[in-house]
Amino acid sequence: MATADRSREIIHLELGARSYDIHIKRGLLQDVGIELTRLRCSGKVGVVTDRNLAAHYLKPVARALKAAGYGVVPIVLPPGERTKTLRSIGTVMDALVEARFERSSTLLALGGGVIGDITGFAAAIYQRGIPFVQVPTSLVAQVDSSVGGKTGVDHPKGKNLIGAFNQPRGVLIDPATLRTLPEREWIAGLAEVIKYGVIEDEVFFEYLEQHMPPILTLSDAPVTQIVKRSCEIKARVVSEDEREADRRRILNFGHTIGHALESLGGYRGLIHGEAVAIGMVYEADLARHLGFCDQAVVTRLRTLIAAAGLPVRMPNVPFRALWDAMQQDKKVSAGTVYCVVPERIGSVRIVPLAKEETRAWYATIRTGTTGSRQRSSIRKQPR
Ligand SMILES: NC(=O)c1ccc[n+]([C@@H]2O[C@H](COP(=O)([O-])OP(=O)(O)OC[C@H]3O[C@@H](n4cnc5c(N)ncnc54)[C@H](O)[C@@H]3O)[C@@H](O)[C@H]2O)c1
Ligand SMILES: [Zn+2]
Repeated sequence: MATADRSREIIHLELGARSYDIHIKRGLLQDVGIELTRLRCSGKVGVVTDRNLAAHYLKPVARALKAAGYGVVPIVLPPGERTKTLRSIGTVMDALVEARFERSSTLLALGGGVIGDITGFAAAIYQRGIPFVQVPTSLVAQVDSSVGGKTGVDHPKGKNLIGAFNQPRGVLIDPATLRTLPEREWIAGLAEVIKYGVIEDEVFFEYLEQHMPPILTLSDAPVTQIVKRSCEIKARVVSEDEREADRRRILNFGHTIGHALESLGGYRGLIHGEAVAIGMVYEADLARHLGFCDQAVVTRLRTLIAAAGLPVRMPNVPFRALWDAMQQDKKVSAGTVYCVVPERIGSVRIVPLAKEETRAWYATIRTGTTGSRQRSSIRKQPR
């Protein structure tokens, strides 16, 4: 699916009139002005970013945009999930009105998933929609959030409750930006990368098994390879089911338990990728318990996740609390909890979970009868 023009990988996301390309190239940030011209963006560019990213990249990005003739309006927000609010959308709207942005002006998201989600939603609603371009800088954003068009913000009662499907005009990925990403964020992003192997591609999973040491030291070739393959898989799944009616739900592998753990930690204990890592191990173990896969799948997955430096142990959470938190998840429809379970590495299916069966499985984990799993508290997660 990807085509390479020498050092550049291009992945096409086919969505009819909303189709676009994902470009992956080291040093692409320096060329962002030329890239926006190629994407037929005109007029002013609002660069939405956070303070961490601004310190590293705002100057070179602004310089590149100005050199290509764009008027640049930086909009710098505080970093972190707590910024993903309607209030930040208000801040962006104020800046756009103040700078007299028009329908033809462009927003550029320079940052992680938080900035991408905010910017995409702001672009969806300012004057009923203006173009936006994603320049993702975290691993999560490069392999997941910048691709697929889900945008939005959190509500005090839940994550991502307010938003819109809004596809960008293009996605520009410079893997070199990952070098300044904090290590914990980098490793957390690997959980989503591993997820793609499980849901779609055993060969990719094997690649990860074989290349984890150079990946962890951020070697150029394997990093570009994992970003590229992850984008290809996400692009294919999204192009088959843009609005998550069915197939796109396989991207939620690890997230039924993962989101529950995240919400039980009050969004503070585990970061998203870490919660998803634990979720993948235990959803696979649940799948084994229910007879969908064999123990080898669980063991292989747990081994790879641990090799990436991600946590693999369920924190000390009572079943009732976990089940209640799983009910809050958006994937619950009509009171039934659906879960993505592996049949083997590279193939998953979506199944409804029965509470009593899930409780029986959970009891085997808590007593340690299914293997080496032990109890640990949320704070003591090994990394
Ligand atoms: N839209 C989607 O489909 C989708 C998919 C997955 C996740 N998400 C959303 O994405 C968000 C998580 O994204 P995230 O993990 O990127 O979080 P984030 O945007 O908060 O970034 C994590 C931290 O890393 C910093 N950072 C990012 N890139 C950096 C770089 N290159 N150098 C130095 N620091 C850098 C940020 O400032 C931040 O402090 C969540 O809000 C989640 O809901 C959305
Ligand atoms: Zn995720």
